[in-house]
Amino acid sequence: MQPSPEIVLEAVQLGEQLRRFAHAYYVLDNPLVPDAHYDQLFTRLQAIEAQYPDLKSADSPTQRVGGQALDGFQTVVHRVPMLSIRTETDTTAAGAIAFDSRVRKELELTDTDGPVAYVAELKFDGLALNVRYESGVLVQAATRGDGAAGEDVTHNIRTIGQIPLRLPAGVPPVLEVRGEVYMSRQDFDDLNDRQRDKIAKGIKGEKTFVNPRNAAAGAVRQLDARIAAQRPLRFYAYGLGEVADANGPIALFATHFEWLAALRQWGFAVNELAGVFEGAEALASFHQRIGAMRDQLPFDIDGVVYKVNSLAQQRQLGFVSREPRWAVAHKYPAQEQITTVVSIEVQVGRTGKLTPVAILEPVFVGGVTVTHATLHNEDEVNRKQVSPGAKVVVRRAGDVIPEIVGVVGRMGLDEESTLAQPTPNAPDELASGLFSMPRLCPVCDSVVLRIDGEADHRCTGGLFCSAQRKQAVIHFAQRRALDVEGLGEKLVDQLIASGRVNTLADLYTLTATELAGMERLGEKSAANLVQALETSKSTTLPRFLFGLGIRHVGEATAKALARHFGSLDAVIAADLSQLLEVGDVGPVVAQSLRTFFDQTHNLEVVQQLRDHGLNWQEGQAQSQGPKPLDGQTLVLTGTLPTLSRDEAKALIERLGGKVAGSVSKKTHAVVAGEAAGSKLEKAHGLGIPIWAENALLVLIK
Ligand code: IVH
Repeated sequence: MQPSPEIVLEAVQLGEQLRRFAHAYYVLDNPLVPDAHYDQLFTRLQAIEAQYPDLKSADSPTQRVGGQALDGFQTVVHRVPMLSIRTETDTTAAGAIAFDSRVRKELELTDTDGPVAYVAELKFDGLALNVRYESGVLVQAATRGDGAAGEDVTHNIRTIGQIPLRLPAGVPPVLEVRGEVYMSRQDFDDLNDRQRDKIAKGIKGEKTFVNPRNAAAGAVRQLDARIAAQRPLRFYAYGLGEVADANGPIALFATHFEWLAALRQWGFAVNELAGVFEGAEALASFHQRIGAMRDQLPFDIDGVVYKVNSLAQQRQLGFVSREPRWAVAHKYPAQEQITTVVSIEVQVGRTGKLTPVAILEPVFVGGVTVTHATLHNEDEVNRKQVSPGAKVVVRRAGDVIPEIVGVVGRMGLDEESTLAQPTPNAPDELASGLFSMPRLCPVCDSVVLRIDGEADHRCTGGLFCSAQRKQAVIHFAQRRALDVEGLGEKLVDQLIASGRVNTLADLYTLTATELAGMERLGEKSAANLVQALETSKSTTLPRFLFGLGIRHVGEATAKALARHFGSLDAVIAADLSQLLEVGDVGPVVAQSLRTFFDQTHNLEVVQQLRDHGLNWQEGQAQSQGPKPLDGQTLVLTGTLPTLSRDEAKALIERLGGKVAGSVSKKTHAVVAGEAAGSKLEKAHGLGIPIWAENALLVLIK
């Protein structure tokens, strides 16, 4: 059956709309419509195409989802070879200076010639890709391979939202765009969390990924595009392959930077940190500046890249073997290193969770010396086959706790062997050499339990366990809770070890005289601490609720509870179904609250704290009319034109939203003002909408 002209028109319009929305969402980080609306249009287009297959074009937005699995990859010979790049291993400023002098020498420049202009970019740690457009339509995407020929991965690349399927009118008839496919750290962590869940559920053939680059490479080389489509990949464009019309190669621009601007214009993501810099010193300071923000970037980089900006100068410089003389990679310290496991210790957290921690031979990774690495839980230790004496790869990327990626061998044994394959369902026969959690808490000797279907082991000692007590006190005293200044970890250690502080309430019985007798605490500090404890007594209900350290009750939940119930007694009295009425509270949180308040000793501590004079303003339970920002988490960054931080926060909370301190995938929007920094950068990377202050002011009206 032929489609009616109306249907043809509708399909064309849907295609155009979806392309525009997708570009705004993936590339501009500025969604134009809610996801649900996008999905609705998308489903409608899919339905039309299903009925009239002739209307389905190769560049239809529906073609991103991924179709049939392939048997293998076709080889693609690169029309313009994909070169590699010389690496400056000297990680200090000397690397930039050496490169600039080589360039100047080759260009036969003298001191009177002025500085050479370079483009400095990030060196993304993913995999290189060549994407070919003919008449503005994506026709092929290939990996770098050996530089002369790679693999055809078009089916998977079509699933990446940041790669346009069609370019605007006016682009060269043949255009090959080169860049890096990568996965953000957050997406990588989330993916591995999901993988760990699957493994815990016993799903066969699933594994965790060692780092974002591996996860990205695995996704790009999937034969089944439906699997690739579920892996959150991104793409930054940084260069070109063949650019031609019917008569052969064409030159559109005179500089590399103009090309980057054009690519951005045509809908590609080009990293905003790239810029033009003159001379070696400017390059060195770029290297340094990016190095300082490396941990805060939302994705891994292993260095920066300098490229001579003028294309005429690039031609003049040419190549040595397969490396251009006009570009260099200037590295940073590696984020993965090999070291040896000395032992495995078990630490007990505030909520009683036992975490195995590998004690390592100190090793310099990602700019710091690492001596400990988390192993998450018992299963993880065994899956990775980590044990004392094992040589392991340690990864530290971003501001995160170092992790063990995998075992590469044993002391003195097969040092050359590659990463051990994780064995998701290690058979019982291997049981002998397996790590198992202690049956009793290493701190308090209480029984350790692992709840069915959960990966974690927990100490059942509760506040009887001094490790949990210590963490509970530290949590209670922190700035965002009761804010007791001067109650540091060392002091808490002493107070707990001496048995002087057994409950949170005991803190308020401390006297200046006895505190002054403690190690490393003078009379002045002792008096200050007693004063700080006194001051902390005037608090707020959310701070108090948060400070109690109830499992799963973070700051935002505490605020939601206080707002909903108005008073502490109402929270304590609420049953499960009443707790579930609170916007921020799900079954797990509700159960955790009930468990906490069902224990008499917890109620006693709460009463003692009140008896010591802890007080807060109790309010009315709030009416629950829907608010514009219900359930949304916002992050503030930079200086807003009219509102102070506190005012903006209060405003967001009045609108039903929450304010978080850092940007993650769960952030709904970032409100940015003047001089916004890494949070804005991170939001860009994660595709989170950026609002101006005005958005809040409009909403409150
Ligand atoms: S330019 C002739 N720019 O580094 C220069 N490469 O090149 C060709 N890489 O595996 C490469 N970020 O995937 C260039 N901003 C960037 C890059 C970059 C990452 C990777 C590239 C390749 C390796 C060596």
